[in-house]
Amino acid sequence: MTLNVAVQMDPIARININGDSTFALLLEAQRRGHALSYYTPDKLSLLGNELVAPVQMLTVRDEPGNHFTLGEPKRQPLAAFDVVLLRQDPPFDLAYITSTHFLEQLQPKTLVVNDPAGVRDAPEKLFVMNFPQLMPPTLISRNMEEINAFRDTHGAVVMKPLHGFGGAAVFRIMPQDMNFGSLFDMFSITFKEPWVIQRFLPEVRRGDKRIILVDGEFAGAVNRVPAADDLRSNMVRGGAATATELTDREREICSVIGPALKERGLLFVGIDVIDGYLTEINVTSPTGIRAVAKFGGPDIAAKIWDVIERKRSRPSK
Ligand SMILES: Nc1ncnc2c1ncn2[C@@H]1O[C@H](COP(=O)(O)OP(=O)(O)O)[C@@H](O)[C@H]1O
Ligand SMILES: [Mg+2]
Repeated sequence: MTLNVAVQMDPIARININGDSTFALLLEAQRRGHALSYYTPDKLSLLGNELVAPVQMLTVRDEPGNHFTLGEPKRQPLAAFDVVLLRQDPPFDLAYITSTHFLEQLQPKTLVVNDPAGVRDAPEKLFVMNFPQLMPPTLISRNMEEINAFRDTHGAVVMKPLHGFGGAAVFRIMPQDMNFGSLFDMFSITFKEPWVIQRFLPEVRRGDKRIILVDGEFAGAVNRVPAADDLRSNMVRGGAATATELTDREREICSVIGPALKERGLLFVGIDVIDGYLTEINVTSPTGIRAVAKFGGPDIAAKIWDVIERKRSRPSK
């Protein structure tokens, strides 16, 4: 089966192909003979209920500096595609939400991965709150009394923006921390949303594990160890990827959340686990495929295309 696939992503010229999961997906699609078209989210227009974009034919190569070729832009209704890959990176803002509303117009004729309504309804640090039994104690608030009561109960905490990503503005606050008042003020001014206050997990120094689930099933994992002078394990902040296996607890986390992901059409998901505690469920544009492959792990891109092809050959699911 060959599929007509469009990918909605940020500018392809700027990606780092050695770490980019979207790129891994595109390489595998091309290897299987699927036709690839490309557009960036800003190019979408909704004319009545018809979603159109000036799409470009795309060829990819696993060669840094020479990784893609684009054809001329050609205006097309996106309903003409079998599959649209929603691979837009955060910020998860109103532009992002608008784009999920746009893509919803295409369903069910076109398969959108991940499901745009599923993505919209699962902000990464909010959706995870449905599974408190798997999480560290966590409060989402901008209320000083609530936050102080939480700190009194839990001691050292981490404070981070609710819709943050890539480790931006993640702080550890110790009991009696003299910076708390100023950080509270700064968060109050900077963010309109309440923010996350979470028990600090000291074992983070041994890593924050990225576990990938495909259609609700465990598909691969990589550990990320923070730099010696940083709290944050994100690879963009200098976290070092290392090979890893799943513990029993982590398998249990996958089996508890897997069905909820599958049900929502969240086909490709990356969860973050620190010391056996689930902290995030990344659904927008998760990464990790290439890092898992680098350490001899499974070919997650192949698993994802197996599922997409299966869904397309039985379109009613
Ligand atoms: N509760 C916590 N305890 C210890 N470290 C944490 C905690 N929460 C976050 N971190 C550290 O900060 C990093 C970024 O936090 P995370 O919640 O994953 O937000 P982001 O969406 O920015 O990646 C994590 O990878 C981890 O290293
Ligand atoms: Mg994270």
